[in-house]
Amino acid sequence: MFTGGQNYAKYYIMNETNVLSALRVPYRAVRTLGGRYLKRPLLETYADWSDKPLKGSLFGKLAPLVPSLRLMHDGIADYHAFKANGEEFARILKEKCGLLPSHRMLDIGCGIGRKTLPLLTYLDPAQGRYEGVDIFKSGIEWCQKRITLRFSNFHFQLMDVYNGVYNPESIVKARDYRFPFADNSFDIILLGSVFTHTLMEDTLNYLSEIARMLKPGGRSLISYFLSNAESEGLIAQGKSEHAFIYSLGPCKVTDPNSPEAAVSYREEDIVAAYRERALEIEGGIQYGSWCGRKQFLSFQDLIIGRKLNR
Ligand SMILES: C[S@@+](CC[C@H](N)C(=O)[O-])C[C@H]1O[C@@H](n2cnc3c(N)ncnc32)[C@H](O)[C@@H]1O
Repeated sequence: MFTGGQNYAKYYIMNETNVLSALRVPYRAVRTLGGRYLKRPLLETYADWSDKPLKGSLFGKLAPLVPSLRLMHDGIADYHAFKANGEEFARILKEKCGLLPSHRMLDIGCGIGRKTLPLLTYLDPAQGRYEGVDIFKSGIEWCQKRITLRFSNFHFQLMDVYNGVYNPESIVKARDYRFPFADNSFDIILLGSVFTHTLMEDTLNYLSEIARMLKPGGRSLISYFLSNAESEGLIAQGKSEHAFIYSLGPCKVTDPNSPEAAVSYREEDIVAAYRERALEIEGGIQYGSWCGRKQFLSFQDLIIGRKLNR
């Protein structure tokens, strides 16, 4: 389940390479017609071949580090959206969080590298370091094979932690998890659309861990669906892309049968959680367009938290 919204679709523009790709027989048609007779590796090779021109024109030399559409479990399966989302967050990280090429950063719930790609050529190979962790095995394995092989300062680790949507087999609860990184070890910690899929106690433990792992003065950039008078009003008017109408403890969810499909928090609970962990909210909350707002920075609500020196 992806909670990134339809507005990435606006990045989809028809260009020469799209037309070329459209003339090829689409992967889905080949899979439907030939799926019974063709072996899976052959189908996957075909998919990669048929996507190659579009990937090449969009990503240039980095195209081999972009997964094919069927592997994009972590958001909209569209190359233009993949590129736009990575670039949007790289810009916010640099301009609003002060990410420098020499920094050490942690990307929790990194998915299949959607936010990683533009950072590959930004972080300094000698000084900068990126750690990506996630509970979704195939995404981490893909990143390890494709990205770390070429960019050795980019590391990916699989976490064995339960999530009802992304890793229902695990018995390890996120509320008990300790990340395998030392105290005060990161300049920046990013969580893009992760706390939109975790419940309160899990989120609170991760926030404590984030405060522990950040260097004093380091920053976290985290996205949320925050419930306040404005977002609740817009949901009631039917303007929101997600209708958080079922209460689950202090959270609200869109589907009581699959609560982690999309989770919203009361704004005051999150603000209090930051205060209790000495994470100062910098520049106020940057509200998102998810609930139908006309003015926004991104799709989800964003909070930059700076670890105070104390
Ligand atoms: C919607 S995707 C976002 C992926 C990526 N951060 C991005 O913005 O493109 C949510 C990701 O969070 C991961 N995730 C969910 N629960 C998690 C948890 N408790 N700990 C770490 N990652 C988690 C999922 O496996 C998935 O890759």
